[in-house]
Amino acid sequence: MSEAKVALADARAKPVRVVAVSSGKGGVGKSNITLGLALALASLGKKILVWDADLGLANTDVLLGVRAQYTIHDWLKGEKTLREIVITGPLGVKILPAASGILELGEISEADKQRLISEFEAWREDLDFLLIDTAAGIGPNVIFFNLVSQERLVVVTNEPTSLTDAYALIKALSTKHDQNQFYIVPNMVRGAKEARAIFELLSNVSGLYLSKVSLDLAGFLPFDEAVPAAVRAQKPFFIKSPDAPVTNKIKDLAVYLSQKTPPGFGGGGLVLFLNRLVSRPRLVD
Ligand SMILES: Nc1ncnc2c1ncn2[C@@H]1O[C@H](COP(=O)(O)OP(=O)(O)O)[C@@H](O)[C@H]1O
Ligand SMILES: [Mg+2]
Repeated sequence: MSEAKVALADARAKPVRVVAVSSGKGGVGKSNITLGLALALASLGKKILVWDADLGLANTDVLLGVRAQYTIHDWLKGEKTLREIVITGPLGVKILPAASGILELGEISEADKQRLISEFEAWREDLDFLLIDTAAGIGPNVIFFNLVSQERLVVVTNEPTSLTDAYALIKALSTKHDQNQFYIVPNMVRGAKEARAIFELLSNVSGLYLSKVSLDLAGFLPFDEAVPAAVRAQKPFFIKSPDAPVTNKIKDLAVYLSQKTPPGFGGGGLVLFLNRLVSRPRLVD
């Protein structure tokens, strides 16, 4: 464990839940779901930070129609604080723009680790959820953000490629990193029946080959034209189409997640997150 271990871990401290959103396959709705979920949780009175961790295709700012002036690179250079980098979106949702290179984070100095910890610590009172929108694939960056998070949400669509990629992600996290609990969110489905069928398929395959894995159908989102229309308008669908079916379902997902208590949830996911972030989880195969 790094010297920068968060000594402030304190069971009485305000818990912050850290949730990684990933999928294996790209283009299945991770970014729209992360932002929608952030806004839905914010509408429930939660304080949210979204970490856009998709190195290649960072686009939370594009979905919001705002331009990120700075990224975490500016923080790494020591030129900006995290608070200066962050964009504030609708309902007070905060977004940390991408370019959070794992290598750079892994190689930062002890002084910078302390700086990262103290900045996040100072933020703790202003945060209920840290949602991490990860990249496609199951590369080191995606694995890294799943390991530093305390909860993992996997988005899946009813396509063989999405299902196999989601399974590959779950398998890698379970067999190589002993992470076994996942929220499953089927996206772009026709209804609850299709969502359940996708979930059961994934559960059955996992049950056969990955004995420790436990999946939880946390909700689902219907295919809804309101999403691409909102993307084109560069406005979150949650704001642009408040009564759309997809908006109702993202609200259900937010309620479901906000009522969950992650196992072993004491001092909070933020402390765990920071400890893991600065201690460089092993990513070897
Ligand atoms: N529930 C949905 N209904 C209709 N289209 C959707 C839905 N969710 C996502 N999309 C569309 O899928 C595309 C990819 O979504 P995005 O959130 O960028 O995926 P990812 O972050 O996984 O790459 C977007 O163009 C978006 O309009
Ligand atoms: Mg994305």
